[in-house]
Amino acid sequence: MSRPTYAVVHCASEMTPLAKVGGLGDVVGALAAEQARRGHRVTVALPAYRALAVPPGWTRRRLPGCEVPWGLGMEPAGFELISPPASGDGADGAPAAGGGSLEVLLVEHLGERRFFDRAGIYDDSARGQSYPDGAERFVFFARAALQALARRGEPLDILHAHDHQAGWVPCFARTHFAAEPAFASAATVFTIHNLGYQGIHDPWVLGLAGFGRELFHPAGPFEFFGRVNDMKVGLAFADLLSTVSPRYAREIQTGGEFGFGLEGVLQRRAGDLRGILNGIDDATWDPARDRFLPHPYDRDHPHGKAKVRAALREECGFPLAPDWPLVGTVSRLVDQKGFDLVEQAEADLLRLEARFVVLGAGRSRYQELFTRLMIQHPHRFHYRAGFDERFAHLIEGGCDLYLMPSRYEPCGLNQMYSLRYGTVPVVRATGGLADTVEDFDPRTRAGTGFVFQRYEAGEMVAALRRGLTAWRQPAVWAELVRRGMGSDFSWRASADGYDRLYADALERVREGRVPTLDSVRARP
Ligand code: ADP
Ligand code: GLC
Repeated sequence: MSRPTYAVVHCASEMTPLAKVGGLGDVVGALAAEQARRGHRVTVALPAYRALAVPPGWTRRRLPGCEVPWGLGMEPAGFELISPPASGDGADGAPAAGGGSLEVLLVEHLGERRFFDRAGIYDDSARGQSYPDGAERFVFFARAALQALARRGEPLDILHAHDHQAGWVPCFARTHFAAEPAFASAATVFTIHNLGYQGIHDPWVLGLAGFGRELFHPAGPFEFFGRVNDMKVGLAFADLLSTVSPRYAREIQTGGEFGFGLEGVLQRRAGDLRGILNGIDDATWDPARDRFLPHPYDRDHPHGKAKVRAALREECGFPLAPDWPLVGTVSRLVDQKGFDLVEQAEADLLRLEARFVVLGAGRSRYQELFTRLMIQHPHRFHYRAGFDERFAHLIEGGCDLYLMPSRYEPCGLNQMYSLRYGTVPVVRATGGLADTVEDFDPRTRAGTGFVFQRYEAGEMVAALRRGLTAWRQPAVWAELVRRGMGSDFSWRASADGYDRLYADALERVREGRVPTLDSVRARP
């Protein structure tokens, strides 16, 4: 039976290979490419950042600009439509034969403050501060993108918004643009990639977005503890909601460190919320054809990994002997990722017979910690600051263990990359980490990694210790590595999940069960 295909528009602030800060970029890029491969006609709306990395061979076409309503005035927008070359084999994000297509609608802000023509994506990394006009940047992005799509006129089936930066998209579609033919039969879907970032602003933003102060009250979608919350707006107006792992879908309804104040909203929409586990882009993250690795290897030919490991060891300046396992981490250096456990466990970690390599940028507190560890223990600890794609791949390929002690983790991609690269993950049992890594049991020899439950430094060190013990038993280790490398995290299963989500959302539209300003007004 052939599957239905849809005209899908993703609205997101990141997409590989064009713009990436974290996993959101990987996921939007890989999901869009997989959907195009399965026959959907996919457009991704993305801000036209100055630092966009448009690969050679992509086609580019300018579209006419327009004026976007902006409070009581207007702001000018420009647009460009770019697309990957149609290689036919589906590589490099290009859609394969099968009727699907992939285009990216770049949204420019041509007003005086140039919201996107800046050094960074969310911040100017030179100063390490978020841009202070984040609210305006992404309200503008949402409104300008919808205006371009409305003008294009092609009827859409699915408008899929990702995270708070696209939070206004479902709202605008059901309000300012409700009468547009392009959106008349479209369903809206909102995906939470990380509830820890919500886009919370002073209430004047509501006026810029084109809504009156009379709508700003606790029972409505726009008010959140006296402020406006972009994530809450998305959650209120989308027909259906999803997040990036089944376990995180349950956790965020429990409040505290998971719900970040939105648990009530999520509990009320529990029946509309699904957990769809992310996949990984298995062309980019494949040790058999990874252009960043000095030697290829795979599950049936694992020997090349030793050469990659040697290259990494050398690049870190670690000595040959004693031959201790290498433990890697590639991450945004933020509290979510659990680095305060590393800080607390410093002395215990240094007592382990292991060497550590960390790649990451973020909070100065963690940058300083890792810099100090490297200076004090250059043979035990290597830290590279900044964003470095090649080194990220080398760490995945060259390490023996991968450490991800997250406080919370909506899905997490690096533990899945690690499994594929034969690098055994040591993770905390939260969100997608719990859904993708199974704890190793030395008696039955089942499991794919080392999992600890409580957010405690001692538990993390104990899990690492179990990993190092297994590493010293070559037969046990080889079997563990091989099992992990056989895990299937391809996008097929996830894309099936989104196809079902889309079909259900469209069913609601056909039945006329869609949120409107009136219907969400009373829904907190
Ligand atoms: P999150 O989205 O919360 O940052 P994920 O595990 O979902 O976490 O995805 C992180 C992605 O960003 C991975 O592809 C990881 O390799 C990449 N990444 C994070 N920091 C860096 C860095 N400093 N250099 C290169 N890649 C990085
Ligand atoms: C977020 C989450 C991460 C997830 C990624 C992609 O940034 O922190 O866990 O994998 O989005 O969905």
